[in-house]
Amino acid sequence: MKDYFKLDEWKIIEEGFKPGENRFTESIMSLGNGHMGMRGNFEEKYSGDSLQGTYIAGVYYPDKTVVGWWKVGYPEYYAKVPNATNFIGIDVRINGEELDLACWQVNSFRRELNMEQGFLKRTFTAENDAGVQVAVSARRFLSMARREIGAVSYSITPLNQEIELELVPYLDGTITNEDANYGEVFWKASLSKAETGVGEPAGRGCLALRTKKSDFLVAAAMEYKLNKHPVEITACQEKKYVDNSIFLTAKPGEEINLTKYIGVTTNRDYPDDDTISQARSRAREARNAGWQKLFAEHSRAWKDIWDEGDIRIEGDAAAQQGIRFNIFQLNQTYTGHDPRLNIGPKGFTGEKYGGATYWDTEAYCLPFYLNTRDNEIARNLLLYRYHHLDKARENADKLGLDGALYPMVTMNGEECHNEWEITFEEIHRNAAIVYAIYNYIQYSGDREYLADYGFEVIAEVARFWEDRAHFNPRKNKYMILGVTGPNEYENNVHNNWYTNRMAVWCLEYALETIDYLKDGYPGSFQKLWNELGLSAGELEKWRDMIDKMYYPYVEDLEVFEQQDGYMDKELKSVAEIPEEDLPLHQNWSWDRILRSCYIKQADVLQGLYFLSDHYDLATKKLNFDFYEPRTVHESSLSPCVYSIIAAEIGYQERAYELYLRTARLDLENINKDTEDGLHITSMAGTWMSIVHGFAGMKLKRIAGEEKEERILSLEPFIPEKWKSYSFKINYLGRILNIKVTSTGSRVTREQGEPLKILLEGEKQKI
Ligand code: BGC
Repeated sequence: MKDYFKLDEWKIIEEGFKPGENRFTESIMSLGNGHMGMRGNFEEKYSGDSLQGTYIAGVYYPDKTVVGWWKVGYPEYYAKVPNATNFIGIDVRINGEELDLACWQVNSFRRELNMEQGFLKRTFTAENDAGVQVAVSARRFLSMARREIGAVSYSITPLNQEIELELVPYLDGTITNEDANYGEVFWKASLSKAETGVGEPAGRGCLALRTKKSDFLVAAAMEYKLNKHPVEITACQEKKYVDNSIFLTAKPGEEINLTKYIGVTTNRDYPDDDTISQARSRAREARNAGWQKLFAEHSRAWKDIWDEGDIRIEGDAAAQQGIRFNIFQLNQTYTGHDPRLNIGPKGFTGEKYGGATYWDTEAYCLPFYLNTRDNEIARNLLLYRYHHLDKARENADKLGLDGALYPMVTMNGEECHNEWEITFEEIHRNAAIVYAIYNYIQYSGDREYLADYGFEVIAEVARFWEDRAHFNPRKNKYMILGVTGPNEYENNVHNNWYTNRMAVWCLEYALETIDYLKDGYPGSFQKLWNELGLSAGELEKWRDMIDKMYYPYVEDLEVFEQQDGYMDKELKSVAEIPEEDLPLHQNWSWDRILRSCYIKQADVLQGLYFLSDHYDLATKKLNFDFYEPRTVHESSLSPCVYSIIAAEIGYQERAYELYLRTARLDLENINKDTEDGLHITSMAGTWMSIVHGFAGMKLKRIAGEEKEERILSLEPFIPEKWKSYSFKINYLGRILNIKVTSTGSRVTREQGEPLKILLEGEKQKI
């Protein structure tokens, strides 16, 4: 699908009507504003293949789990993001016949996602068997300025004869989830009301649905404006559906426009009995404001985002379009206005992964928001986990362990994934939660966060590792057995290097934080110490674990062994796999995958990336050379990490190749699964590939006046094809602008006090 979309630096353009690719394009053309989102579905009826998808942030349904053999500790449910009321719909009937592109002859067709201003536009001309020709132009956006508001402007022009036109703006709650475990309908009706005779032109509707079990009330309300007085308006209200039918006539060349204003609210934000009236108020407010004003506010909000968060690439339009698409989708998915929300791997673009939170947020997404938006946004991502600390304690307890174990997959802090090898064993996720706190503190300078919230999480995670590892007296080492590392193509392994290393890092960071809080916040620290019941003996145990952790190592090759026994496998390279066997997860039995040496995603390399400053280039090179040829990158999270390490060790071409694999992953449907939704969380990895990889941005430890300090360091290179690239980062209250060209790099300070950084190894005052 390399050239499916036209190359344009600010737009994604599909030309020509290709029903076979509709689900794919629907994913790509998704819109969102942090509060709600939807796929690039058509407004008018479409009976061809489509995944109608509208999703509301934070609203989930606890779908009963499906398992073969139940195991104690399994969660009861797998959370699903329920496909919500379709509120963009406008059916169109022409001389009594439904306008449906699956049945009409489509003469021209174009869908265009405008990333600069955040709207979707679709134009087409079509003809029916009776020879009636019409031209349609539809635009829509979900307001970034007023999150509960969306608007659709739908224009239709008869081209060759006068037509009787029926426009039917509707709200449809009869939708279901394709991924429901038992085909269950997740919503029950709460209210449906359609009215005529209010205002000019006269009509409006409201539909409220409530999720079964989880009791989320979602209300959608619509009002509209027409550019021509209608002959008649009727209203229809059914259990989960409302509409208005608007009857008009239109002469050839006469454009009829209907602008639909939508308000969507939930009882997450309002008392239950106020939620519906709030949706109505939003729709009314939107109609009163009008398209122009709403759109101007919305596009201003996008301008602010781009001013801070854009990456500009000169000389490579495909790379520019790719990175902007990633940045655009990330900002549509999470706006950081509410600490109860998080980032699902598919955002608002599909049902897969149930809209739930994974370690992806901390390991991949956090740096993007931290460096490109106000600190509050990243802070809210951390608070999300802070608020789930009690549930994480319960989760550890369920497994018979002390401390806190954050879930692998969650909506509300409870684990909702039920494959034992992931739920019980993929415990490395706990380290990512602490690593995110570390990252946040380093880049924001908000050390108070440690005293107010961070330390409790760090200490409880440290405690979990303390209990989960055990001491092996025969080897005089601590070990962590029965785990799954980030590479999910190995299960129940012993001493996964990454897990052991990150567990120790968590303990080290816990001790460092204690030292810091003791001096900086003695009052808060004493209180926390008492509340958490910490003791000198416990800290002694952490130190002992740090000294005596066991790490599998391959002496002759000088590489970290991914886990005990990895070197006993038949060691082959990906180049030896026949093309038709790839991707392995679709072609090989699970047993064969587990026995093989093939690696799904960065594992040892993930550790070298996180703890970059602890390892020298030679170590990184040896490990890259050993593991990269064995990695199939069948998780979209993988290539970016390899790209970053490749850039650092001087494998610039390879870094660029791996980067391309992430940057245009969805635009070119590289993993052949974009129709299920976009790879939102790996999009943050694309941003990391440029900022951490090509620009080499990281924190380095250097000797300070009294003790070791961390300093921002940049060691940029530029891919051969590019003329220049530039981006801004938010670092310790400064906005720094970094520009890299083939002749050198320049860092300028746009906001905040002067500071020292390392640029290409030299200390410089900016
Ligand atoms: C990856 C996990 C990831 C999940 C959601 C899986 O394929 O192996 O690391 O958390 O997808 O993105």
